[in-house]
Amino acid sequence: MSRSVPSIHGQWSSRWAFILAATGSAVGLGNIWKFPYIAGENGGGAFVLVYLLCIACIGLPIMMAEVMLGRRGRQNPINSLETIAKDEQASPLWKYLGWSGIAAGFIILSYYSVIAGQAMAYIFRAFSGVFEGVTADGAENIYATLKQDPERLLAWHTLFMMITMTVVARGVQHGLEKTVRFLMPTLFLILILLVGYAASTGEYFNQAVSFLFKPDFSQLTSEGVLIAMGHAFFTLSLGMGAIMAYGSYLPKETSILQVSITIAIADTLVALLAGLAIFPLVFANDMQPSSGPGLIFETLPIAFGHIAGGEFFGGLFFTLLVFAAWTSAISLIEPAVAWLVENRNVSRRRACVYIGSSAWFVGLLTVFSFNIGSEWTLFGKTAFDLFDYLTANIMLPLGGLFIAIFAGWFMKQDSSTEELAITRPIFYHGWRILIRYVTPTAVVIIFLKGIGLLG
Ligand code: PHE
Repeated sequence: MSRSVPSIHGQWSSRWAFILAATGSAVGLGNIWKFPYIAGENGGGAFVLVYLLCIACIGLPIMMAEVMLGRRGRQNPINSLETIAKDEQASPLWKYLGWSGIAAGFIILSYYSVIAGQAMAYIFRAFSGVFEGVTADGAENIYATLKQDPERLLAWHTLFMMITMTVVARGVQHGLEKTVRFLMPTLFLILILLVGYAASTGEYFNQAVSFLFKPDFSQLTSEGVLIAMGHAFFTLSLGMGAIMAYGSYLPKETSILQVSITIAIADTLVALLAGLAIFPLVFANDMQPSSGPGLIFETLPIAFGHIAGGEFFGGLFFTLLVFAAWTSAISLIEPAVAWLVENRNVSRRRACVYIGSSAWFVGLLTVFSFNIGSEWTLFGKTAFDLFDYLTANIMLPLGGLFIAIFAGWFMKQDSSTEELAITRPIFYHGWRILIRYVTPTAVVIIFLKGIGLLG
């Protein structure tokens, strides 16, 4: 039975508010920082193609499922799953799917904040003109100096976590809705401007276009396919309950199909634009596309150092990157905060402090993995690499898999028909085929191959 009572946390004021907030969650470091460097590390075109396929065939149906489950349950992911499981006469154990999501969100937030902190540091470097006329070596040095200083990273990480806690404490609707309304369009404009600059590099731009869009399958490994799929989950904020939590604040009459498509398209566009802004500079400056997590911190300063008004645009760009990260971080913490508020009778403010400060503490491991702890490894990975791999490539895909199974197999057809309320039957049936068969099969195969369990 669908619940007519709104969430105790309130509702989005309109369909657009939800689209902006969910796009704010989706568009973040994943698009601008992570997508270019993993595309670079995994050989470009073929990887991008797999990523796009994963967005369409896996990400979109799961996003619809998450929004649907959230709106039907009207509570935090754990309680929503528990309530729906009860209504559908499924096992109460489904609530643990909510728990694993909250755990994944917590781990992601811990390292996300450290990287967002680095972007914050770059706002000041850019505005103060440090990048003026900088060479590729110079840019690498500036980044290395930041990374190797644990105190600085710690200070920025702390600041970022604090601003995240502040917004969530004030309730999603007030601070957030207003901010994203202005920020998302501005981010888009700046990206287009940067692509314009990158396009002026002529042959390098063409080289970047073929790097990103001409698939060379010999470059693609099974692990690369797993990384592409994991990134589809990461970039759309799926598999951990963020979108489910946001869906629980969605007004009844909104079309889930429409909003989900809009969010997926906007998110993909931002990632591709980021790639088109960055790779021409990589090629023009003889840098390696596969240089890893430092890629944007080492390439973009070169562009900003050479264009008219570069200080201003550079500063603006990193400011917007921080805002994009901020609107994502908020959604990482929201499910856990909502759970504490609903189940432990804790005030929103207190809940934010508890969750935020614990994630901050775990984030120290990531801070140190860039400097004094770069030798501390497990399975050959530093703490940061391990957290990233564990969440994006294991926890989110598995979370998404079980969400698909729950929505497709355990929720009755009548219930999903009612909640999704898709007017054209063909779209509903298309979704149901994807969520029941295509998505789970694809996730299982890619996952097993990617971790090497399937030849
Ligand atoms: N989608 C965000 C990004 O691309 C990260 C994120 C993952 C946010 C999971 C919420 C939940 O940066």
